[in-house]
Amino acid sequence: MQGFDYQTPTRLIFGKGVVEKLPEVMDGFGKKILLTYGGGSIKKIGLYDEVKNLLKDFEIFELPGIQPNPKYDPSVLEGVRICKEKDIDVILSVGGGSVLDCSKAIAAGAKYEGDPWDLITYKVRAKSALPIVDIITLAATGSEYDMGGVISRTETNDKIGYMDPHLFPAVSFLDPTYTFSVSKKQTAAGCADAMNHIMEQYFCEDSTILNDGFMEAALKSLMINAKKCLENPKDYTARAEMMLACTYGCNGIYSLGSSYTGWPCHGMEHALSAYYDITHGEGLAIITPRWMKHILSEKTVSRFVKYGINVFGIDANLDKFEIANKAIDATYKFFESIGIPMHLKDVGIDESRIDEMACHVAENEGLENAWAPLLQKDIAEIFRASL
Ligand code: NZQ
Ligand code: ZN
Repeated sequence: MQGFDYQTPTRLIFGKGVVEKLPEVMDGFGKKILLTYGGGSIKKIGLYDEVKNLLKDFEIFELPGIQPNPKYDPSVLEGVRICKEKDIDVILSVGGGSVLDCSKAIAAGAKYEGDPWDLITYKVRAKSALPIVDIITLAATGSEYDMGGVISRTETNDKIGYMDPHLFPAVSFLDPTYTFSVSKKQTAAGCADAMNHIMEQYFCEDSTILNDGFMEAALKSLMINAKKCLENPKDYTARAEMMLACTYGCNGIYSLGSSYTGWPCHGMEHALSAYYDITHGEGLAIITPRWMKHILSEKTVSRFVKYGINVFGIDANLDKFEIANKAIDATYKFFESIGIPMHLKDVGIDESRIDEMACHVAENEGLENAWAPLLQKDIAEIFRASL
């Protein structure tokens, strides 16, 4: 078991109607708020009006229009400009992971005199950040309980995930009823994203019975509850359990004491989203089974055996490679069964830029050090197998 240094400072407030506590929570941070949100879903579900009403005694500035795969320019830059100009005390992010990730970059950029890109690329480490409060409206990324953010820069085809302890939200409100309106596409993509967060931690050299048990249960919970959410989008219990499983996903708590994995599927998916602006969870679902097939070997097979038996109930008496292959097929079939397009061509990606993307990943994501190392040719092969 590996050593670790772990702290999560985020306060989680979970349940139906919890947003009523918003004024009291915001009061602890100051009166000037930057309210960040996306393309309008929070207005459609009445949350925007609810927030404005609850915070009528505060001074609110707004940054709307944050896109999925949030963009450095204009959203991060514009948010930093407002924070500095208006001397903002706290950021309130209302929306999905993209709004929150953008808010995290703004929070750190607001306290930095140089180009905020320096912080995203680790050229400079953040010394502080504005406090962030969020109301998360989509179960997927776990950004509400982690210190990561992912920012895209269109002109350089960069989509960079970065971590900094200053990026933990101070408070996250999780009301599953706000996720009732999430589309089938985004519900399925969110499930695939959260499942992949777990797999990125599960498939490693050195794990524990404890971590494996957590993760196997979380995978089963996500698969069962995502199907229930798709059948009945207003199933509170299913939305709630899915939300919490997603919240834990990226925090690191599932893999305390486990060895380094390199998060290879995320490394590869970042290029797909950066070059083609696709939905993150769909890109992951497409890549994951192909990555699994690619890395299956004498060295890795025992993890697939455990995964296959404990998550999918595959017969433990079969040959180890048969169990592993059945587990990979079951993974593919599950994603397909929740309506995810399972080929890159289905999401508008063809052969033309595969080598360019593989080169970009190989140069930027450090996957040669992953548990099952991936070089440029491996990455290109996985992309081609995903077409
Ligand atoms: O923009 P609006 O109008 O709000 O609509 C959004 C968006 O179109 C919509 N939506 C959100 N909540 C809704 C809703 N529609 C109806 N009802 C609601 N309650 O859903 C669409 C997608 O939203 P987005 O925020 O992009 O989705 P998600 O939460 O999946 O975030 C994806 C981003 O997070 C990054 C991804 O790379 C991607 O950029 N990730 C961040 C991580 C982190 N910080 O830890 C980890 C993940 O691996 C992930 O990489
Ligand atoms: Zn992800």
